[in-house]
This record gives sequence, structure tokens and C-alpha cells, in this order.
Amino acid sequence: MSNIYMPDLMDVVAVKRHTADVQSVKIQFKDPEKQKNFSFRVGQFGMFSLFGEGESTFNICSSSNWKDYIEFCFRKSGKVTDALWRIDEGDTIGFRGPYGNSYPMEAWEGKNLIFIGGGIAMPPIRCAIWYALENRAKYGNITVVYGARTTRDLVFADELDKWAEYDRVRIIKCVDPGGDTPEWKGEVGLIPNVLAAANVAADNTAALVIGPPIMIKFTLPVLDKMGVAAPDIYTSLENRMKCGVGKCGRCNCGPVYVCKEGPIFTMEQLNALPADF
Ligand SMILES: Cc1cc2nc3c(=O)[nH]c(=O)nc-3n(C[C@H](O)[C@H](O)[C@H](O)COP(=O)(O)OP(=O)(O)OC[C@H]3O[C@@H](n4cnc5c(N)ncnc54)[C@H](O)[C@@H]3O)c2cc1C
Ligand code: FES
Repeated sequence: MSNIYMPDLMDVVAVKRHTADVQSVKIQFKDPEKQKNFSFRVGQFGMFSLFGEGESTFNICSSSNWKDYIEFCFRKSGKVTDALWRIDEGDTIGFRGPYGNSYPMEAWEGKNLIFIGGGIAMPPIRCAIWYALENRAKYGNITVVYGARTTRDLVFADELDKWAEYDRVRIIKCVDPGGDTPEWKGEVGLIPNVLAAANVAADNTAALVIGPPIMIKFTLPVLDKMGVAAPDIYTSLENRMKCGVGKCGRCNCGPVYVCKEGPIFTMEQLNALPADF
């Protein structure tokens, strides 16, 4: 019987530094057959390991349409991510996955989409944005509201301009007051305020909101006022995980295992969970 904790061996094929503490990594299965047959759905996550250091949970931030590699992006914040920060092209890492549920890209067809992300939240949103753009005809207007503390904290900043070239796509980027530079051409302000002032039409709309809890807290009333209801607002949780497959009980709250039933929930689902969630 195969061991569910046994990672696949992956070659690191590219490493890119985005900010002083955020880095994205492209990896490929060492076994070409596995690479060819691997599939996942946008929004799913994986367990990424560096031998002798440990394992960490990251969203797969590439589109599921990209077949040559998978990509993850992380912020240097502790033991494993400090070690992953030092990896380079040609190194080997471990990967288990894909795990968890995914964004309901089929159910979103025909709808307008609003993607709202703060800081390091861009990776889990980016995979859905690319997927929607690669299936452009299936979705209505696409609005991306992406904010960071300063211009130096924007992740995948070069892709924002590429997304803006697509039909019916509006990119609103913002940095906190004081985080701008003289060259900055985006908005200055906090995400909820920038969204409230942006006059985004929100009929027949699904919204994906990912970021620090404080940002989500103040963004929800704005979406509510715009007319986007809790069943149409999605987020991805980042509860600490160990096994990723519903065995260890590390991630659960009451009867809900975030690694299996999540990490993606609607606000309506989250409102029904125990208060300490
Ligand atoms: C489904 C899912 C998807 C994720 N996707 C991403 C991603 O795409 N990019 C990314 O940078 N991070 C992501 N995370 C968070 C990431 O797993 C942790 O930041 C990472 O495991 C930290 O590992 P470490 O060993 O470097 O830190 P540690 O040494 O374990 O911890 C460093 C500090 O971070 C805290 N911490 C660690 N993990 C978490 C967590 N999950 N939630 C809150 N605090 C935590 C610790 O308590 C400690 O204070 C995701 C988490 C989940 C569950
Ligand atoms: S991470 Fe082990 S049960 Fe969810």
C-alpha cells in the first residue's frame, strides 16, 4: 500500500524574488510521466517539503491550464520558509497534493467576478484570475482589487499590467497611505475604502476575498452595500495543517476539517461555523 505521507520528488526549475520576503518557485515532477498526468483545480493546495527542514502548506498559485510545471509562492516567516528561501534552480524539494476543495469556476460561469486581495494573498487569487482570463468568454466583467502596504510589497506586480490588457478587465491597485512613491500610478488607501469608491457594478457577481482578517472584516460590509451577498463571497482559510488529508485533526473546527472540506468557504458557510473559527 502506498504511503500517503510520501512526497513526490520535484525539480526546482525557476525561483523568483518578488519582495524582500516573498518568493515564487516553479517545480516539475522528476518523473516526466507524473508531470504529464498531474492535474489539479485552481484553489487547491499542496504540502511542500525541504528535506531535513520540514513541510509547509501553500496554495498552488499557477493556473491548472499550465501543464509544464506547478508554482507556489510564499512569505519567509519561519523554519521551513526560511529554508525554502535559500533554494535555487536545480535543487530538489518534496510535494504532496493536490489537496482540498477548489474555487467553483464552473458555477461562476456567466457571472461578473471581483477578486480582492491584500499583500501575500495574491498567490491564491492569481491562479483563479489566470484561469478566468484563459477562459475569458465564460465570465462577465472581471475586477481585481489588489492592495499592499507599500509599492515594495506588491507580489506578481508585473502580471497586473498583463491582466489589464484583457477585454472587460479592470485592475485597481492600491497601497496604504505613506506606502506610495512619486512614480506610483495606482490608488492610495486601504482596500475597503478603495473598493467603496471604485463604483464597481456588482449585479450577478461572485467575489473572492483573501487577506488579513482585518481587511476581510472591513471589506465585507462594502460588498454587502454593493449588493454581493454572503453566499456569493468566497475566501480561502489558512488554518495550520499537518497531514493535509483529514487524518491528524490539526486543522479542524468542530466537525469541519479545513484540509478536506476547505480551504475555500463562502461567507455564509463561515458564518454558520463555531465562533472560535
Ligand atoms: C491551505 C493553506 C494555504 C496556504 N497558502 C500559502 C501560500 O500560498 N503562501 C504562503 O506564504 N503561506 C501560505 N500558507 C501559510 C503557510 O502554510 C505558513 O506560513 C507556513 O507553513 C509557515 O511555515 P514555517 O515553517 O516557515 O513557519 P513556522 O516556523 O511554522 O511558523 C512561523 C510563524 O508563523 C505562524 N504560522 C505558521 N503557519 C501558520 C498558518 N497556517 N496560519 C497562521 N500562522 C501560521 C507560526 O505560529 C509562527 O508564529 C497557507 C496555509 C494553508 C493552511
Ligand atoms: S491537516 Fe490533518 S486533519 Fe486537516
